[in-house]
Amino acid sequence: MEFQPTDTARLEWTGDALAIGLFEEAVELTDELVKLDEKLAGTLKELIDEVEFKGTTGSSAIARVGSHSQIRKIIIVGLGKPEELKLETLRRAAAATARLAKKEKCKTLGISFPALQDGRDATAQAIAEGIELALYQDLRFKSEPDDKGPAIERVDLLGLGGTEAAITRAHQISAGVILARELVAAPANSVTPITMAETAQSLASECGLALEILEREDCEKLGMGAFLGVALASDLPPKFIHMIYKPEGTPRRKVAIVGKGLTFDSGGLNIKAAGGIEMMKVDMGGAAATLGAAKAIGHLKPDVEVHFISAVTENMISGKAMHPGDILTASNGKTIEVNNTDAEGRLTLADALVYADKLGLDAIVDLATLTGACIIALGDDIAGLWSPDDNVAAQFATASELAGEKFWRMPLEEKYFEGLKALHADMKNTGPRPGGSITAALFLKQFVKDTPWVHLDIAGPVWTDKENGYNSAGATGFGVRTLVNWVLGDG
Ligand code: BES
Ligand code: MN
Ligand code: ZN
Repeated sequence: MEFQPTDTARLEWTGDALAIGLFEEAVELTDELVKLDEKLAGTLKELIDEVEFKGTTGSSAIARVGSHSQIRKIIIVGLGKPEELKLETLRRAAAATARLAKKEKCKTLGISFPALQDGRDATAQAIAEGIELALYQDLRFKSEPDDKGPAIERVDLLGLGGTEAAITRAHQISAGVILARELVAAPANSVTPITMAETAQSLASECGLALEILEREDCEKLGMGAFLGVALASDLPPKFIHMIYKPEGTPRRKVAIVGKGLTFDSGGLNIKAAGGIEMMKVDMGGAAATLGAAKAIGHLKPDVEVHFISAVTENMISGKAMHPGDILTASNGKTIEVNNTDAEGRLTLADALVYADKLGLDAIVDLATLTGACIIALGDDIAGLWSPDDNVAAQFATASELAGEKFWRMPLEEKYFEGLKALHADMKNTGPRPGGSITAALFLKQFVKDTPWVHLDIAGPVWTDKENGYNSAGATGFGVRTLVNWVLGDG
């Protein structure tokens, strides 16, 4: 599929389907749209009346134009109120348009949406992202595709001539999101700590990134007892991945992205029940977003140094498994009583955070499918955000707003740390059920000493059971676009 930004007027455009974005107030046709309607022998007006189109967000309709028309089909898409128009509205409208055009077997599509105040580049980028992400289908594990219809070959972005660089950016970012989706969607017999390290290896050569993989012995030398405790029962070797993007000149700032990388979380001896365990291939969603961001950033080449870190392993069961009650020592010397082996993500992150903290960077973000409690608190669409640093939290608010990925800032309520008090160790790894995502964040905080830090719990939005905007059912690649915006942002 090829995107072509162009200043061709919609009256002149020819192709399979022309999509017009309409505001709530603009469903009464004015000026140029009246002319277009005449050209389409009244089909546009008829369609609006027939489906009682109101222009609300999420609404769309399509109609066939008479057989001699140079435009075969007309699509209308609602954009809501003009004063409320956001990049995310355009992204979702573009996604709905592309899905409709694909279903109706259109090979060429013209998009005519109004450009946002933020500018034509941001508008073109959002539209291209929405289309690429909506049309992506993961067929790797099917012997035959379900859908044998023709692919959309060309998308013309009308009124957006000269935005080629923004389209390229959209493609680089979408490729990162799609990598994250593919890693999350792949089952645990396909994505393992070994293949995660291999993926990092091929990314490093694709984008010219530095890469260090720490093996079990290397982690032992660094005293990563928490991470290695989790890895004990797996037959697969743990892999600690550290990839670095360095800009050509002096970096404007230096940051780390740390992702939870459990390629499978059985729960360990506190084994998970049916109705939960079979989804635990998604438990490397943080690491997947980290690698996805590395792919995007490796191509975007910003003037920021970025460290991509993940302590990757499985949480399994065997005679070698850690026992509930075991005491582990993390690489900062703190001792942890593992009162629940299913709270393993924070153990792996503890050593990854200590490692990142020692790099002496300007900021660290970790993202993790950390707790079911966060899903209970915020539902499937919203990730939790914790940070003791208002400045970094504000950077993430901006980055996520632009990305259209939702985060809600949650409290680091220090008093709740009492719930992690242990008799014989510095802390337990699991607190009481109430506020479970907050005690998890407080636990992580024990392993960051000096660096401004933000923690993102993405257990909800890493996956969607139903199609939602530009996300099809399945892995979403959540986090990649926010991370990229954050790295590219003012800081
Ligand atoms: N990987 C899970 C969290 C999770 C749940 C991710 C649902 C995605 C979807 C995590 O390791 C876990 O098991 N958390 C426990 C913590 C508890 C034992 C304190 C949980 O949330 O139940
Ligand atoms: Mn777990
Ligand atoms: Zn887990």
